[in-house]
This record gives sequence, structure tokens and C-alpha cells, in this order.
Amino acid sequence: MKGIILAGGKGTRLFPMTKIISKQLLPIYDKPLIYYPLSVLLLANIRDILIISTPQDIGNYRNLLGDGSKIGVQFTYAVQNEPRGLADAFILGADFIGDDSVCLVLGDNVFYGQYFTPIIEHAKKQAETYGAAIFGYPVKNPKDFGVVEFDENNHVISIEEKPQNPKSNYAVPGLYFYNNDVVEIAKNVKPSARGEIEITAINNEYLKRKQLQVTLMGRGMAWLDTGTPEGMLKAAEFVEAVQDRQGFYVSCIEEIAWRRGFITREQLREIGQSLKMTDYGQYLIALSEEKI
Ligand code: DAU
Repeated sequence: MKGIILAGGKGTRLFPMTKIISKQLLPIYDKPLIYYPLSVLLLANIRDILIISTPQDIGNYRNLLGDGSKIGVQFTYAVQNEPRGLADAFILGADFIGDDSVCLVLGDNVFYGQYFTPIIEHAKKQAETYGAAIFGYPVKNPKDFGVVEFDENNHVISIEEKPQNPKSNYAVPGLYFYNNDVVEIAKNVKPSARGEIEITAINNEYLKRKQLQVTLMGRGMAWLDTGTPEGMLKAAEFVEAVQDRQGFYVSCIEEIAWRRGFITREQLREIGQSLKMTDYGQYLIALSEEKI
């Protein structure tokens, strides 16, 4: 399975913070926002990853992440000239995806929780077996998201994008697993009323084909909002609280790469040494010496 991180958009809701820098490069406590969705792909054992961003910002992602060899993965980069909608990821990424299945994660989505790894491993298998796997997550403000509608037997009957009258409080997080049909489906999506080619249209097409699996995430999972300055601050406080209490880092890409066997202990140590003036670097060094 290939992975795509969509990290474009204009970031207008975060102006002036995002006037000259891409939202997904802003920090959430001690690391760039994109590290959090990137760690989701690494946890899912996905090592071939396409990063999509704007013409202005793509160079910064390249400078930050390089070709991926430092953490034992492969990064490819693509430009999205205009934010045409999330489904564009599969059109821009068609050659990259080739004949493979694919996981899309939005560059501003943060996930954290126990059993998250088995949940995404399962979704990966579901997509490869049935066609598509997405999630539902209870929120107080479903109007701001794609929302799952259920019938009386709890079967999913539709997904609505930012509905005025949400039929449930289950929002669809920005993490989607699909088989290869998604490329063809995306090419046929028509722009919505707001002029975007919506991921929700793709999900509804899989639903129509009876190939959509929706897993509900429980209260033990954190899916954090980074759409406003307040959301970013709260996400940063969450990460700080967990890291300070447990001593384990949240979404440390080098740690995951090492635990997944993408890099050796020696490589982990070297990265740690290069950052040794920071707590982050000291954490990597301590991990490599099995002190954590
Ligand atoms: O976060 C989950 C939600 O993401 C889902 O529940 C919705 O169904 C889905 O439409 C999406 O809603 P948003 O309103 O959050 O989408 P937004 O337009 O803000 O885009 C999400 C991220 O993707 C944002 O960081 C910018 C980036 N983006 C967006 C578009 C439309 C791109 O890189 N390119 C694009 O064309």
C-alpha cells in the first residue's frame, strides 16, 4: 500500500500565521504538524509516501523531510496548483499509486491513542479486501466535517459533507484507506456546490458499491483539531501533557521508524546526536541506548 499526505491549501483560517508558511509546517508543541500524520503512515507500515503541497511550499517540505532515506522510507513530492478538493490527491497521485492500494491522510490531522496501530492495520486489510475503510469519530461540532448517517440498525446509509442538519455526531476523520479503484472514482467526481472535488463523493461511491467499511473510534482515541489557533494550542498542550507524564514522545517519526525496523539503532543514535542540543535529540539518544 502507498501513502499520500495532502499538505496544501491556503490556510486562510489561520492567517496571519500562515501567510508565508504552510499550515502543516507550523509546530504542534515540539515538532512540525506534518510529523503527526506522517507517523500514522509509518505505524501502518507504509514506506512509499507522496507529499502534496502548494507551489510555494513544496520546497520547504523537501528541505524538512528529504528523500526519506534517513528514516528508511521513500518520499516523493507533487505540487497542487490550486486547492481543488481532497479527491485531487488521487488524480495528482495516479502515477505514484500505479496498481497499488493507497492510504490518504490529511496533513493537519493528529491522532493518538491506545490500540491505534491495530485499528489502522485492520483498516488497511479491510480496504484491500472490500474496497474502502474510513472512520467515524464522535464530535460536538459535526457540521464542520463529513458526517456519517446510520439507519436504525446502525448500518451506514450515507456520508454528508458539512451538513446543516447533521444526522449523527460521528465525523469522518482525515484518514482514508482505498483499493486501486479510487483513482478511477476520483477522476469521475464532479465539483460540489462549494466548487471542490470532495472526498465524501468518493466515500459515497464506495458505499453505493457496498464496499465501504466504517469503523467507529471510541473515547480512548484522540483525534485533535488543528483548524484554529485555539485548536493548535490545545493540541500542543495535549502532546506536552502526554510526553511530560509518560516520558514517551507522541508521533516521533524516528522512533517509529526504528521500532518498525526501518532503521537501525545506530542510525537512530546518529539522528539523535545531530539534534543533541534539544530534548528531542536526547530522547532519540536515550531510546538508542535502551534507557527508555
Ligand atoms: O479533517 C477531516 C475533514 O476534512 C473531513 O471530515 C471532511 O469530510 C473533509 O472534507 C475535510 O474537511 P475540511 O474542511 O477540514 O477540509 P479542508 O478544506 O480544510 O482541507 C483539509 C486539509 O487539506 C487542509 O489542511 C488543507 C488541505 N487541502 C485541502 C484542499 C481542499 C489541500 O491540500 N488541498 C485541497 O485541495
